[in-house]
Amino acid sequence: MIVGVPTEIKTDEYRVACTPAGVRELTEHGHAVVIQQGAGEGSAISDEDYRSQGARILPDADAVFGEAEMIVKVKEPQPEEVARLEARHLLFTYLHLAPDPDLTRGLVASGATCVAYETVEDTRGRLPLLAPMSEVAGKIATQAGAFMLEKPLGGRGILLGGVPGVAAANVMIIGGGVVGMNAAFIALGMEATVYVFDRNIDRLRDLDIAFGGRADTCYASTLDIETRLPDMDLVIGAVLVHGAKAPYVVRRDQLKLMKKNAVLVDVSIDQGGCFETSKPTTHSDPTYEVDGVTHYCVANMPGAVPITSTYALTNATLPYVLHLADAGPARAAEENPGLAKGFNVVAGKVTYQPVAEATDQPYVELSDVLGAAA
Ligand SMILES: NC(=O)c1ccc[n+]([C@@H]2O[C@H](COP(=O)([O-])OP(=O)(O)OC[C@H]3O[C@@H](n4cnc5c(N)ncnc54)[C@H](O)[C@@H]3O)[C@@H](O)[C@H]2O)c1
Repeated sequence: MIVGVPTEIKTDEYRVACTPAGVRELTEHGHAVVIQQGAGEGSAISDEDYRSQGARILPDADAVFGEAEMIVKVKEPQPEEVARLEARHLLFTYLHLAPDPDLTRGLVASGATCVAYETVEDTRGRLPLLAPMSEVAGKIATQAGAFMLEKPLGGRGILLGGVPGVAAANVMIIGGGVVGMNAAFIALGMEATVYVFDRNIDRLRDLDIAFGGRADTCYASTLDIETRLPDMDLVIGAVLVHGAKAPYVVRRDQLKLMKKNAVLVDVSIDQGGCFETSKPTTHSDPTYEVDGVTHYCVANMPGAVPITSTYALTNATLPYVLHLADAGPARAAEENPGLAKGFNVVAGKVTYQPVAEATDQPYVELSDVLGAAA
């Protein structure tokens, strides 16, 4: 198969979907790899680094989409990339379609086979291609929140860890999955007072053991969240219902309960956001204010630390890229049911139920269209 890697074009996105190690493995499996000139620059990978492992460097995205059968990316395709997709393409990237009916319609119209990193599951039902970026985003969430709490940045002017004789800041984390746990560990490392809310009691049990009593775990009822909000300096939203649009865990009318210039960090923004007042922002302009509360809603947080994120992501994606390239999408999906869960759009049909429901598209069983997969 010819595997193509274009340069990411989303604002402030510096990751790349394949490293020289990936090129080496793909070429050793007999595949050809074409990389857009400069695609690795943001992650400190040169064209020569790719070339030395067997890749061909192509001058622009048109050339990569023109030659490649499989397109491997990081972020969801931007409109000009959707316009380049054809039915013969297999697209493997983050898609986050549930909150994005326009993108879903674009992918349906392209006829391409579109496999989403974030809905691929492992044998235990976990999300192996979301986890590495969630680890990164969770750690950034606390860092960014601590920074935005500084007075010159519009924050309350409180130090997360306090000092002897002055209390630490209060941090509430809603959603104690991969993002939430990593955010909590950094907040604990900074010596904040930490509360982690989730609705999954087994998860709260695991977290309780992991924290060793250093953070409080709380059941995420609406009332409990509301009762604690007035004391919080930083609230990190990290809930996920697999593949679906994020539920709102803080409503607009609850913002008035919060301290002036407290900070909300909505990591779930890529699934539509879990605070009612969230809207996507960028690293260049990461925050805005609603009712006196700072909102940080960067949709590609790991893009800011590409040297960590590119390797963390590609370590996880490479086995799946190899399987898709070796077996072709139809056989790969049959051989690995967890990978089959990643197939969101195939041959003009939505094959992932939560996306179909959220975007008002008809849902078609994957097995009905898998034969037509690119
Ligand atoms: N903005 C970014 O750059 C970025 C980067 C990585 C991940 N994310 C997003 O972060 C979110 C969380 O990812 P994750 O890997 O931690 O997911 P996860 O599945 O590991 O954890 C989600 C947790 O949310 C909990 N949950 C679900 N509904 C809840 C509710 N109503 N109240 C409280 N808890 C609830 C679940 O029980 C689970 O423990 C996802 O939307 C993911 O796409 C964003």
